[in-house]
Amino acid sequence: MFSATTITIFGFLPITLAYLLCTLFFHKKEKTINNKKPPGPPTLPIIGNLHKLGNLPHRSLQLLSKKYGPIMSLQFGQIPFIVISSSKAAELFLKTHDIYFASRPKSQGSEIMSYGSKGMAISEYGPYWRSVRKLCTLNLLSALKVEMFGPIRKEELGVLVKSLEKASLVGEVVNVSEAVENLIEDIMYKMILGRSKYEQFDLKGLIQEAMVLFGSFNVADYVPWLSAFDIQGLTRACKKMSKSLDEVLEVIITEHEESTNVEKTRHEDFIDILLSIMHHNIDKENEQSHAIDRTNIKAILLDVILGAIDTSANVIGWTFSELLRHPKVMKNLQNEIEKEVGNKRMVEEKDLKKFKYLDMVIDESLRLYPVGPLLLPRECRESVTIDGYFIKEKTRLIVNAWAIGRDPNVWSENAEEFYPERFVDKTMNYQGQDFECIPFGSGRRRCPGIHLGLVTVRFVIAQLVHCFNWELPSNITPSNLNMEEKFGLSIPRAQHLHAIPSYRLACDVNHE
Ligand code: HEM
Repeated sequence: MFSATTITIFGFLPITLAYLLCTLFFHKKEKTINNKKPPGPPTLPIIGNLHKLGNLPHRSLQLLSKKYGPIMSLQFGQIPFIVISSSKAAELFLKTHDIYFASRPKSQGSEIMSYGSKGMAISEYGPYWRSVRKLCTLNLLSALKVEMFGPIRKEELGVLVKSLEKASLVGEVVNVSEAVENLIEDIMYKMILGRSKYEQFDLKGLIQEAMVLFGSFNVADYVPWLSAFDIQGLTRACKKMSKSLDEVLEVIITEHEESTNVEKTRHEDFIDILLSIMHHNIDKENEQSHAIDRTNIKAILLDVILGAIDTSANVIGWTFSELLRHPKVMKNLQNEIEKEVGNKRMVEEKDLKKFKYLDMVIDESLRLYPVGPLLLPRECRESVTIDGYFIKEKTRLIVNAWAIGRDPNVWSENAEEFYPERFVDKTMNYQGQDFECIPFGSGRRRCPGIHLGLVTVRFVIAQLVHCFNWELPSNITPSNLNMEEKFGLSIPRAQHLHAIPSYRLACDVNHE
């Protein structure tokens, strides 16, 4: 007779064996078919490949991609990354498989400063992000709304032209970078908050500090067990900044709430629009749609401010630098504008659609200087195999838009040269169809401010070039103008751009 124990053992043995065999078989199969990682450099303990990034990561990653290919594997600290460096690979990840990469990873700074990622830019993919994105694209950034805020752009640009005309009378060297940054700040703050100056606080200074913090490299995001020590002091700095920003936003929102009850003496701005839809269901067709509250409004405002100002100002800065380096292109542009507008009036926004060469100049500038050279990071939502490579859930995706725009296989041997004529027969579509140049990203997370950004950049460049001739200061020539960049949330020139304007219209804007 067999004992009960023996029966139990012999009863379970075949099951256990079958289980072990199955596990071995499937594990082996998964390993051989699915576990192939994209090629990449060897990693060091703890830091992985962090030492490979350098001061200008877009350039270091471009160099690495020449060795390891357009789909690379890297590891920063403990976090696995895939880095994409060609338009074909970008299409695979941002179009064919975009749904897998439509989320953003959490970072310590954004969690603290963006009200627990309640804005749009860094919130994870899901019903909340969809609702907020829809709200912003329909209510704040649609073509109609962009047009509605046209008078603010016209007025602020007019103020700058007047001050430049005065500078031109005395042959003053103008800090173009600073002038453009102030202009864009004034335009965007007026559009978003209703005004750009406050006596009680230094809003511009605060936002600039916040941008530096958002753009800082926080080692705890890559080696999470270090976060408890806050060795760079960034957690403390972010908490302090978040408190200051919140206080300022509270004052501004309260001011709006109070003025809605009394007679309105100002134009509608983003806060008015957001307050008017607060607590309403954003997307009536969608059951999972969220209603926004005051905290959401503050997070959205911060995202829009951070997304709009430096990007637009830096695109203008780079375009203007290239125009100064290429006087012939500047002249062609002036001729194009003058042909339509004459020399007795300033450019109006409605003129912009007639300027094909202006579009070519700006497309060329965006190709060479995508101001978000690595876009914003994405996070893989679910394990997936792409192009034969297995990509595990939570792997992060970096798209090197800077390398893509300079790929000689796509843009020919003169890819590094500023040559707007290459766009003569090519109209760029930044809405997700073209992958040869992706300065606004692509797929579900592409920039929602493309139209506003392009109108602003086109208008400012056209006006400055039409109203003035520009020369570099006497010690700088077009060929030795410094074109180095500085890495951050958005990439500006490393050195401010200086130039001397001379007024060229046959009318006096100071008396217009
Ligand atoms: C010429 C100017 C601009 C450039 C070059 C630019 C570029 C970019 C880039 C590269 C991204 C990341 C896209 C991705 O991950 O695929 C982005 C996202 C974003 N941009 Fe822009 N941008 C510009 C203007 C604006 C403006 C004017 C606004 C708002 C008023 C804005 C708001 C945003 C927001 C909220 C996101 C995050 C979208 C999301 O994650 O769903 N941008 N932008």
